[in-house]
Amino acid sequence: MGYLSTDKKKITTKTYAEMKAAGEKVTMLTAYDFTTAGIIDAAGIDTILIGDSASNVMAGNADTLPVTVDQMIYHARSVARACNHALVLCDMPFGSYQVCKEDALRNACRMMKETGVDALKLEGGVEILDTVQALINAGIPVCGHLGLTPQSVNKFGGYGIRAKEDAEAEKLVSDAKALDKAGCFAIVLEKVPAKLAAEVSRQVNAVTIGIGAGNGCDGQVLVYADALGMTQGFKPKFLRHFAQVGEEMQKGVKAYIDAVKSVEYPSAEESY
Ligand code: KIV
Repeated sequence: MGYLSTDKKKITTKTYAEMKAAGEKVTMLTAYDFTTAGIIDAAGIDTILIGDSASNVMAGNADTLPVTVDQMIYHARSVARACNHALVLCDMPFGSYQVCKEDALRNACRMMKETGVDALKLEGGVEILDTVQALINAGIPVCGHLGLTPQSVNKFGGYGIRAKEDAEAEKLVSDAKALDKAGCFAIVLEKVPAKLAAEVSRQVNAVTIGIGAGNGCDGQVLVYADALGMTQGFKPKFLRHFAQVGEEMQKGVKAYIDAVKSVEYPSAEESY
């Protein structure tokens, strides 16, 4: 029951592996609500991510840390209802998987049962490997997330590029290999040098999805509101505006205001 029905077949983790083997790039955008997800799904995107960026984009928080499991479930359920085609991936929020493996598995099962999403994404490498393995053993497809991991913004002291130095780059490669070996079907690589992301992409079977990581990744992800020109004052180097939806919305709102103020709307034809 999407925005427009699509006759494209549903993307699965199996499709991901096939796309990597065929050298076909995987596309991913975020969404957090039914209407937006329906539009994005009908356009033919491969994946919709209910990112914990919902904390910023939907709630106006300064970072992703405040968003809760219950709030992510609300957003994820709304998005999953709209998707006929895309693989639907949901972030586990900060605090929902770091305490212990058992707690993580309980939260992950709840998120899968109550939302209808296809897979979950967790930030981190070897530190969370046992947890990642437990989820995969339970039959939950897991997408890793390395490089700039926004849930650790306070540890990093900002949102700068990661893994520029050799030691961090080496750790990123071994983290990616460990996640791959554990069975992650995909790994997001955020804000890392393009050369490193391309090298990781060659070394792992998992599909790498870049954001600020160059075009050597197996796919790309952006926050939809950033990609469509809806967020103001946020224009990092990696971001391209593929539309000016914010401006279009403002035009529409102004036209509505003018029409109501001038008593031109509603017309006789628009009245009962
Ligand atoms: O929360 C999010 O939107 C993300 C993407 C930017 C990768 O994790």
